[in-house]
Amino acid sequence: MGYQFELIGFPIKHSISPWIHEQFFTRSKLQGTYIKNEIELNDSFSGKIIEMKAKQIDGFNITVPYKQRIISYLDEVDIIAEKMGAVNTVVNQNGTWKGYNTDGKGYLRSLESKFSAFGHDKSIHILILGAGGAARGIYCALTEEGYMHIDIANRTMTSAEDIAKLANDKTSTQILSLEEAEQLINHYDLIIQTTSVGMKPNIDQSIISLASLNKPIIVSDIVYQPLKTNFLQQAENAGAQIHYGHSMLLYQAQLAFEIWTGQRVSTENLDHELQLILEGR
Ligand code: ATR
Repeated sequence: MGYQFELIGFPIKHSISPWIHEQFFTRSKLQGTYIKNEIELNDSFSGKIIEMKAKQIDGFNITVPYKQRIISYLDEVDIIAEKMGAVNTVVNQNGTWKGYNTDGKGYLRSLESKFSAFGHDKSIHILILGAGGAARGIYCALTEEGYMHIDIANRTMTSAEDIAKLANDKTSTQILSLEEAEQLINHYDLIIQTTSVGMKPNIDQSIISLASLNKPIIVSDIVYQPLKTNFLQQAENAGAQIHYGHSMLLYQAQLAFEIWTGQRVSTENLDHELQLILEGR
């Protein structure tokens, strides 16, 4: 019968994850299905979870707004997901459910796939813009990998301070206002935009201005609708190397598939195909 995987969240009608996992099934030659199981906000969440337990599916992904809520239904939570307080992948191991979070590590894999030198030097200066769930995941993954200088700028500075509590003894983190970050952009080697600012339909917005950028650093935006955000366009105009948001989707899915099946499927050419699909929307 093959593997049975699902995606829960709301709204998920336009999710690209089923397409990605379909490619992984084909490439790995494994049999299986990955279906959307939308849980509406006024549905009984626990009722839906009981149904999923009864079906004995092999694994599932969780997206907004249920990444925190799922935790109380799990038998075990991986240490990184626990630190993040959010789970996006659950595997069924002989009837027990274990939760993981592949967002941050998936993001790092996407950077490594595009920039071969990335990952060699842990002393680079990194700036994260935003302090929501995505920022937390990326910050955790970077600290786990041993990056030493990771600053966080956010409109609400207390949220950034909360994330910085996750630092380990190797990490130094400064909390900045967005105005301070804008002044300091040339101090960084990598800038990661994690807020929703610039997402369709507000495509003219940018969290900070990059007008004074004068170094060929890496600038990354996790927004992927549009692919080239105003922020990335400014970065490109300033001669930076840009990293698009959609590839994070691909690599967090690759990690989930690996947790479920034990197979690391090649993502070769998928990045480009995914880009074409998203551009067509
Ligand atoms: P996610 O889980 O996808 O990261 P989130 O938790 O809602 O989303 O986080 C949204 C982030 O975008 C936050 O950093 C938020 O800033 P605040 O903490 O100050 O709310 C940021 N954000 C959203 N809209 C913003 C705006 N118009 N200007 C500045 N920051 C904004």
